[in-house]
Order: sequence, then structure tokens, then C-alpha cells
Amino acid sequence: MTPTPGSTISFLGVDGSGKSTIAEALYKQLAAAGRDTRLLSRRDYLRGQPQGHVADANRAFYDAGLRALYSFARTDDDRALGELFPAPPGDLRDGALEEELNSARITTNDPQAITAAALAEIGGRLVYYASVVRPELDRGTVLIEETHPLKMVTKLCLVASQITSDEHHARAAVTALRSATMVLAPDPFRDVPVLVRCDPQRTYERLIASRGGLGVLEHHGLAGRGTGREAYLDLMVRVQEAFEDVAQNWRCVVVNNDDGDQDRSVKRAAEAILADPRMARLA
Ligand SMILES: Nc1ncnc2c1ncn2[C@@H]1O[C@H](COP(=O)(O)OP(=O)(O)OP(=O)(O)O)[C@@H](O)[C@H]1O
Ligand SMILES: [Mg+2]
Repeated sequence: MTPTPGSTISFLGVDGSGKSTIAEALYKQLAAAGRDTRLLSRRDYLRGQPQGHVADANRAFYDAGLRALYSFARTDDDRALGELFPAPPGDLRDGALEEELNSARITTNDPQAITAAALAEIGGRLVYYASVVRPELDRGTVLIEETHPLKMVTKLCLVASQITSDEHHARAAVTALRSATMVLAPDPFRDVPVLVRCDPQRTYERLIASRGGLGVLEHHGLAGRGTGREAYLDLMVRVQEAFEDVAQNWRCVVVNNDDGDQDRSVKRAAEAILADPRMARLA
């Protein structure tokens, strides 16, 4: 008997566009229909403190990305964030450290280090795919990834290209992003990528309402280019534009989540994903 091929459904969309909410709704529907489905998150996998050589390989990339991103960042009270890190192989998944990094007010950062963080993100994704995702797919599982890894890579590369006045560094960041759209492209025969569209202004307001502040979102610094609402929205508009291009190339299912009636909007989005002809393979 040939096993049912697995599939991944993964979500692109700016911060707060509703990826997790829609992913969860979709997961519930597929699970209720009796499909072997899992919600997947690389962060949760690492937080689960997995053991063994596979876990070590995954952790190494995560650590490299985090260290590259923060080691060269300085805050408005002139702290070097790299000093907060325990020496390798110290554990970076500590909640207090994460909190401190998320709330740090970064004023300067190094564009090449941010590009390196994006490359570590890409490498980490490949290792995670090979060691965690693919074995599940081979078992026939439908994996729902609430955030496609290209989201973080896009943010990092756009920040890196924006904060540098060095043309070579900017080009390196743009090239890294272009490579990522190839290296991380979905398999057209088994993956269903989804773009959740939502006006960045609206997502900003939703995030402030639900999380009380930007915090984690602001911390990538926009270093040297101002912080706060305007700089953040400017970045999100660029991210959104980049996602629109990717959605065309990757043939994403595109859903809108602009409607302020959350239940109705999310239900409609989940239905649109389920109605995509590619989903028939999962039946
Ligand atoms: N249509 C909607 N109307 C109003 N609020 C919504 C809608 N969809 C989602 N939300 C709310 O917006 C917030 C962000 O949603 P969610 O966490 O799903 O976004 P996300 O894209 O996963 O964000 P992130 O990029 O940070 O992971 C949540 O509080 C959620 O309840
Ligand atoms: Mg989310």
C-alpha cells in the first residue's frame, strides 16, 4: 500500500496579520475531519529541549542566528546585547533572556551581522526540514506551519539592506533574500503556501491592542533608521511588498484577513484554503 503523501501548509504574512489564528482554525477543521495533522513550530521544537545529535544540529543554527543578530547590537543605554549571552554552549532558550532581548531598545546594529543571522535562519530551516519535517511528511502527516521561515529571513534582510550606507552590504542582504526565496521554496507537488493579507496599519493596531506594545517587533532595531511606529510601518509595508512577489512565484493561496470581525474573517480564510484545488490531495 502506498502511504498518503504528507503535505505542509505554511503561512506568510506581516506581523499580526493572523497567520497563527488562521493556522489554528485550519488545524481544528482538518483534525475534526480525521486527517493526521500537526501544528508545527521550530521554536516549540527547540523549547522542548530535545536531546541527541539531531537536536544539537538544530540548536547550533538557532544559537548562531540569535548570536549574530544581537551580539553587535547596542541599546539606547549603550549596552552591548552580546554581553547578555552565556558563552557557548550556554542555553539561549531561557525565558528571562528572551524577554530581555525582546524588550531591548536597539539603536545600532551591524548590517552584515543581520545578514549572517538571516543566513543562519535559512541554514537552520534546511536542517530542521531534513531532520524533523521530512520524516513526518513521509509518514503522511499534514503539517501546518503557522509561520513560514521566509518571514523572518525577509524581515532581517530588509532591515540589513535598509540600515547600511555601504552598497556591497546592501547588495549582500538583497542577494541573501533572493536566494532564500529559491532555497526555501515550497515543493509544488506537496506543499501549499498561504499568504495572509492584512493592511499593516491594521495589524499594528491589533498587535498594540493584544500585546500592549511593539516590544518584540521593534527589537530588530530598524537600527540607525529610527524606531517606533513610523519606522515599523515602513518596514512592514516593504515586507508586505516582498511577500506579494513571493506569492506570485510560489503560487500561494492568498487570503484576506482585513475584516475586523475576527471569527467571520478567520472562518472565511480557512474555507478559502480548504477550497484550493491542491487541498484535494489531502482528502
Ligand atoms: N480578523 C481579525 N480581526 C481582529 N483581530 C484579529 C483578526 N485576526 C486576528 N486577530 C487578532 O490579531 C492578533 C494577531 O493575530 P495572530 O497572532 O494570529 O497573527 P500572526 O500573523 O500569527 O502574528 P505574528 O506574525 O506575530 O506571529 C491576535 O490578537 C488575533 O486575535
Ligand atoms: Mg504567529
